[in-house]
This record gives sequence, structure tokens and C-alpha cells, in this order.
Amino acid sequence: MSDEIKKGLLGIVVDETEVSKVMPEINSLTYRGYAAQDLCEYCRFEEVAYLILNKDLPNSIQLRKFEKEEKNNRDLSKNLYEIIKHMPKKSHPMDVARTAVSVMGLEDKETSDSSPEANMRKALRIFSKTPTALAAFYRIRSGKKIIKPKKSLSFSENFFYMCFGKVPQKEIVKAFDVSLILYAEHSFNVSTFTARTITSSLSDIHGAITGAIASLKGPLHGGANEEVMHMMKKIKKPANALKWINNALKNKDVVMGFGHRVYKSGDSRVPTMREYFGKVAKIKKDKTFEKIYDIVEKVMIKEKNIHPNVDYPTGPTYHLMGFDTDFFTPIFVISRITGWSAHIMEQHAANKLIRPLASYKGNKHRKVMQLNQR
Ligand code: ACO
Repeated sequence: MSDEIKKGLLGIVVDETEVSKVMPEINSLTYRGYAAQDLCEYCRFEEVAYLILNKDLPNSIQLRKFEKEEKNNRDLSKNLYEIIKHMPKKSHPMDVARTAVSVMGLEDKETSDSSPEANMRKALRIFSKTPTALAAFYRIRSGKKIIKPKKSLSFSENFFYMCFGKVPQKEIVKAFDVSLILYAEHSFNVSTFTARTITSSLSDIHGAITGAIASLKGPLHGGANEEVMHMMKKIKKPANALKWINNALKNKDVVMGFGHRVYKSGDSRVPTMREYFGKVAKIKKDKTFEKIYDIVEKVMIKEKNIHPNVDYPTGPTYHLMGFDTDFFTPIFVISRITGWSAHIMEQHAANKLIRPLASYKGNKHRKVMQLNQR
């Protein structure tokens, strides 16, 4: 391979952004200049969603208006509910999310308007409706009646309510909110770059988010939180963990929830999420996965010097909250819609078509033979 090729765009700076800053050297992450950890401590997810979309934290009047709009847009069209009802029950919910956002694009009156104002309105509609679409599928595939969104509930409370018919205790809602804050934005990761690439041809926000969802689904990106849970279920009990991880390392397996393209000595989001995972495990009186977590982490750091990424603690946290494993990455989606939307708007504001080059290594020039001569 030529020296000039940077496979995976490794180390390449392709643009500027004001949305977030990942600082692996000091293990820090800021959204619009605010440390993600501080946002987890002092804010609800809605405030952070506002910050990412609107570039500043809201005052109470701005927040009330934003929340009102989010709540008013939660419900889906009859058509979209019908489509979700007819989706194959075995569909992966990430594919449901992808299709639902695509259908929202068919139904949105402003699809072809990519002005900053229209994009902001559309971003809010996608943000409000996607949890409803996912929860509807969650209910339908297990033969339960759809639960419509409730305006008296916060974003996180409403998601629990639409999935399970009830809102859990406030500590669980807080842990869920924290996970959404930590998942909301992370600079030029693969799904965000996908969204920006789609946008760079001046395509629309529904298309860009549909593509971003497809990108997030992969196990090397957001899909890792589901893979972490599959791994933990396979390990089953703490007594099996050491043998399992040593075996995985002997076989040179990729251990899901570990490693990161940017953070090489630890993901800045992990300590906060690890703390909330512990809180949820305590409330649920189930320390099994916490013990497995610690054993696998210790061996990975000692033997490989590879640290966990944020998908490692979120996986078992969502499990303890009662979500099916294949809903973990869709939860990531409902949060990351904020980051994707901000990047899509930023790309529109200073667009340059994204079109890299490739070094050709195929056949040399060949002469076309007519069909009867081949
Ligand atoms: N388990 C075992 N070995 C690993 C792991 C892992 N999870 N991650 C990296 N390594 C090893 C690689 O095998 C490689 O070893 P080598 O140099 O001997 O070949 C070395 O560490 C470098 O890894 P790369 O894959 O080249 O690093 P890259 O930056 O391309 O990959 C990635 C980052 C894809 C995240 C990788 O660490 C991985 O596959 N992790 C598991 C999937 C995962 O958890 N993804 C979630 C990422 S966070 C997010 O999207 C929210």
C-alpha cells in the first residue's frame, strides 16, 4: 500500500467543527465548550440536546419552549404507525429506526428545504418522533398494544413509559438521562462523518440521518453496546469471566466494548457511565454483570493495555433497566440524533463536497471483446 494512503482516514483532519472537542491527551470531552461530565451532573438530557442544537445552554424560558415543541411533535402519523405494525417482527430495531426516519422524510412537508430554519424544525421533529417509532415497534413485536406518548413526561420518562407502560424510579431515569448525554455527540465518528458526507452533496437531513443510523448499527461503532451484552450473557457468571477473557485473548478475538480510534488510554465517558452502571446495579440488587465487567476490564488493561469505551458500561446498564439487547443501539440513536443534526447544519453552513481519491489497483486497461467473442 502506498505511503500516501490513509486507510480509515486515520489521523486525517478533514474539517473544522464547533460542536464538540475530543481531547484524548487529557481524557476529556466537551460539547460546545462544556465538559460532558459537568453536563451529566448539572443538566437534564433536554438541556444538553438544546445546547448541541442551539450552540448554548437554554435559560428556563428557552428550555420550556424547546420541551413544549419536543412534546408536541412526539406522536407519529397514522401511516407511520401502520407501517411499523406491518414490519417483520424479527426486524432489527436499528433497521426499524432507519426505515422510520426515512418514512418521516416522505411525510415531512419541508423535506426539500435545507435552510437553517427548516433544518432546525426537521431536526426537532426527527428527535421527537424517533423514540415513539422505536417504542411502538418494541410493543408490537411482543404482541402488546402501542402506548402513545405522554406530554406530562420528560424525554427519558416518556421513552420508558412508551416501552413498558410505567416510569421507573428517578435514579433509574437519571442514569438513562446520563447515558443519553454521554451518547449525544462525539465529533467526527463514522456515523457523524456519514451524515456529513451525505449532506455534502446538499442532500436532506432525513436522508443524512437515515444513513447515519445505518452506520451506527455496525458492531465496530454503536452496535458494540449490544455485542457487549451478548458477551456478558455468554460469560454468564463472574466465576467464568477470567477463563473466558483469557481464552478470547489467546484466540486473538476482538473484545467488544474495548478500544477506540481516538482514545488510546481510556474513553472520557467511561468513568461517569461506570458510576451510574454501579448505581443501577445496586438499585436492581444484581451485581453479576458488574463483577464480570471488572474482571474483563482488568485483564484487558493488564494484558493488552486496551481500555473500555462507553459501550462497555451502557450495555449492562440498559440490560438492568429492562431493555431487550437489540434496543441498546437504538437508544444510542435517539440521543445521537442531536449530534448528527448539529453536524448536518454545520456542514450546510460551510459546505464543500466530500470527495476523496482512491489509488487504483485493479486490472490494467483492457480491450472490450464483443459478446460472441468472449
Ligand atoms: N479487542 C482486542 N484487540 C483490540 C481491540 C479489542 N476491542 N481493539 C483494538 N485491538 C487491537 C487490534 O487488534 C490491533 O492490534 P494489532 O496492532 O496487533 O493488529 C490494535 O489493538 C489496534 O486496533 P485497531 O483495530 O487497528 O484500531 P482502530 O483505531 O482501527 O479501531 C475500534 C478502533 C474499531 C473501536 C477497535 O478498538 C474495536 O474493534 N473495538 C471493538 C468494537 C467497539 O467496542 N466499538 C465501539 C467503539 S466506541 C463507539 O463507537 C461509541
